[in-house]
Amino acid sequence: MNNLRDIATVFLADEVDFAELYQAIDDFRVCLLDLTQLGLDDDSLRNDVHLSEGLAIGTEWAVRCVDDILRTKRFVKGLAEAIDYQLNQGLKPIELLYAGSGPFATLALPLLFRYSPEELQLTLVEINEVSFKTVRRVFEGDDFRPYLRALYQADATTLQLNDPERYDILLSETMQYALQKEPQVAITLNLLPQLREDALLIPAEISLHLAAIEYGSTGTVKSRALAELLVISRKALSGHPPLLQDGATQFPMIEHQLVDEDIANAHKLGISTTIKIFGTQSLGLNESGLTIPKAVFNTDSLPVGRKMISAQYHLGAVPGMILTVT
Ligand SMILES: C[S@@+](CC[C@H](N)C(=O)[O-])C[C@H]1O[C@@H](n2cnc3c(N)ncnc32)[C@H](O)[C@@H]1O
Repeated sequence: MNNLRDIATVFLADEVDFAELYQAIDDFRVCLLDLTQLGLDDDSLRNDVHLSEGLAIGTEWAVRCVDDILRTKRFVKGLAEAIDYQLNQGLKPIELLYAGSGPFATLALPLLFRYSPEELQLTLVEINEVSFKTVRRVFEGDDFRPYLRALYQADATTLQLNDPERYDILLSETMQYALQKEPQVAITLNLLPQLREDALLIPAEISLHLAAIEYGSTGTVKSRALAELLVISRKALSGHPPLLQDGATQFPMIEHQLVDEDIANAHKLGISTTIKIFGTQSLGLNESGLTIPKAVFNTDSLPVGRKMISAQYHLGAVPGMILTVT
């Protein structure tokens, strides 16, 4: 655990020192691969699982998520802030439901040195066979076993919890930028309504905006938000019906009148993503692979003058926001 303790100290720092953070991420990856003896040359690690509500990425790609450095740092720090918040409410142990743990329970593992098993218990859900078996190995060791409440190989979009009242925090990072392809929204819609009202959701808020995107000659990307398209948070979903298994769950169609000034200087019209993780932690534009803007239309292909952009988020095997222009 000692090495992990040093790594966690870097993740939990208030300021980002990039040299130190790159080193900590390298050490973290090496430590996780050592711990699990996962050899990345095995083809089975690249097998994605195609679910009715989106893609569960293969183990190798889940390993690579570690390298999204600000994502990893800020989720770990945000999770620590959420655990501290619930401890301060007098709850103990904090029961964390981690949906899509990947092969290492990556976002929770660095925190295990910080809390005792009397303060923190984990329930892990993972659908991918290789990732499930790998994370099971992690928690067979003496250091981590006392923290494991339960481990399920299950689809978090359909899982019905036996003891939903138990959980104090729901954590899931099963998303790509623009909430496309992976089942973050379906997982949240299935699990969150099963939990107590005071259970915290992490990330606390994911927002998608219609965006005018400008690419600079030096590789810079600017994105200007034009209209809110979707918010996934406890508050925004409070009136939303839980996930229906017959594909009938719908999000509203958002319409935005676009004028030429909205996209003056922009090269693309698309979707931007911002994430409030918890407390002081968030991910803004381009800070992570999860928050790069998604280009949908070339602006020079759009009709001149006023045009209506319609946007609707779709669940299903390939979830995502569909934009149309009329
Ligand atoms: C993007 S990876 C993130 C892994 C790790 N939590 C992290 O943050 O580094 C998402 C993980 O969630 C798992 N997953 C995706 N959809 C799932 C579902 N419906 N039920 C259970 N696990 C799922 C994938 O197999 C993958 O291991």
